[in-house]
Amino acid sequence: MWSLKAPEALAIFRSLSLQCPLPPLPDCTPLDFHLKPKALRKTLPKMPNIAIIGGQWGDEGKGKIVDLITPAFEIVARFNGGHNAGHTVIRGDRKLVLHLIPSGILHEGVLCVLGPGLVIDPVALEAEAKVVESLGIDVWGNLAISDRAHVLLPHHRALDLMSEERKGSARIGTTGRGIGPCYEDKAARRGLRICDLLIRDRIDAKLQGSREHFEALCRGYGVTRDIDWAATADALEAFGARIAPRVRDVAALLHREMVGGYSVLYEGAQATLLDLDHGTYPFVTSSSAGIGGVVTGLGVPPSRIDGVIGIVKAYTTRVGTGPLPTEVKDEVGEALRERGGEYGATTGRPRRCGWFDAVVARYSARVNGFDGIVLTKLDVLDPLEEIPVCVGYRYRNTRLDDIPADIGIYEECTPIYENVKGWKTPTGDIREWLDLPQEARDYIKKISDLVGVEVPLVSIGPDREASVIDNNTRTSSWLRA
Ligand code: IMP
Repeated sequence: MWSLKAPEALAIFRSLSLQCPLPPLPDCTPLDFHLKPKALRKTLPKMPNIAIIGGQWGDEGKGKIVDLITPAFEIVARFNGGHNAGHTVIRGDRKLVLHLIPSGILHEGVLCVLGPGLVIDPVALEAEAKVVESLGIDVWGNLAISDRAHVLLPHHRALDLMSEERKGSARIGTTGRGIGPCYEDKAARRGLRICDLLIRDRIDAKLQGSREHFEALCRGYGVTRDIDWAATADALEAFGARIAPRVRDVAALLHREMVGGYSVLYEGAQATLLDLDHGTYPFVTSSSAGIGGVVTGLGVPPSRIDGVIGIVKAYTTRVGTGPLPTEVKDEVGEALRERGGEYGATTGRPRRCGWFDAVVARYSARVNGFDGIVLTKLDVLDPLEEIPVCVGYRYRNTRLDDIPADIGIYEECTPIYENVKGWKTPTGDIREWLDLPQEARDYIKKISDLVGVEVPLVSIGPDREASVIDNNTRTSSWLRA
């Protein structure tokens, strides 16, 4: 499984780590052999570097779209979050849910990158790699892990659960995976990074800092939580040795490959309304899930982002708590959930369902600069006679056309709907744009007009083939792998 035996790798990295920052490995490492030969690449038109960003509250179907277009790219790079993400990819009759590893891993010869903006749980990463390997895929040979990414530790998970428990009805509804506390340690500058795993003394010192903070919190809360710190340190050292051959300065790696003419697909996790700065704070995740995360979470300059595609569901869902103005709590919402299979890919929780919210999509389009939006799960709306679309909000006696920062105001907002005629025809087998029912095209056009962004592709089922491209759009060429 590993290109170097653990003790060997550790010895190399111990000697390298004497120099700080960690120097990149020589160019002849196996990692670099996985990129397609440049001669072959030159025969193809150069694909721009594209970011795929969630435009609502997550679970829009980013995994499928990334999987669909990956063949046109040499590198797929994740820039935010951790194993709180759940990217579902369907292969024949197999359903694979990826949490940390980019969906690009399923394509031979594509290099997958975990950027500095991620928080990586060693146990989760290795367990996921095992599942993917069971499909006959070489995971480690195609993975580069940032030396600057943060390491998610057992006590982060304990803190996440404790914090949610204490909040009671005001809880965020996190995935309980320790994501928030790990980013807290990062911001408080006591985090443990991947490069630290290569030096035992560093592991011990960093764990000590984290442990003191954790135990002070536990004392304050009046609770005890048993963490075996010594075993954790041993496990981290062994993990560090195992991943050492895959650890890189990924910003330098991406820069080198882009200069060499290779294209990068930036794979977002979670979504704009869950972004720490631009989402519905405090009901958000703890990372930059919007376009800004590409720059900070990978170390690439904005000039290396050639296009941004927003992934937006034809209706709206949300897991966890927080405002969802178009939520439908009756049997209609229940029917959307059942038809759409709206259960969390990571936690299995039922997702809250509601109608398409153009205020949300417009906000996301503005924050991220969407060049196009892919509208997913259109087929879920097939049976409906009429489809409400939220075009604005009512707050007391005022109309709002944007998302208020004040969560109390947002919670009080009610949707202003316009009804669009349904098409009442199955769309799942359609493959040509003009074969979509006129009412479905009207619905897509309405959304495109309200958001002010073209819709180059709609998804009408979980399979790769269940996708219909509008060839008359500017961005459709980015989505044709
Ligand atoms: P955390 O990321 O586990 O801290 O959870 C914070 C909020 O983000 C909660 O409302 C979660 O349900 C939500 N969340 C985190 N990851 C995802 C995702 O991949 N899809 C949808 N919601 C998510």
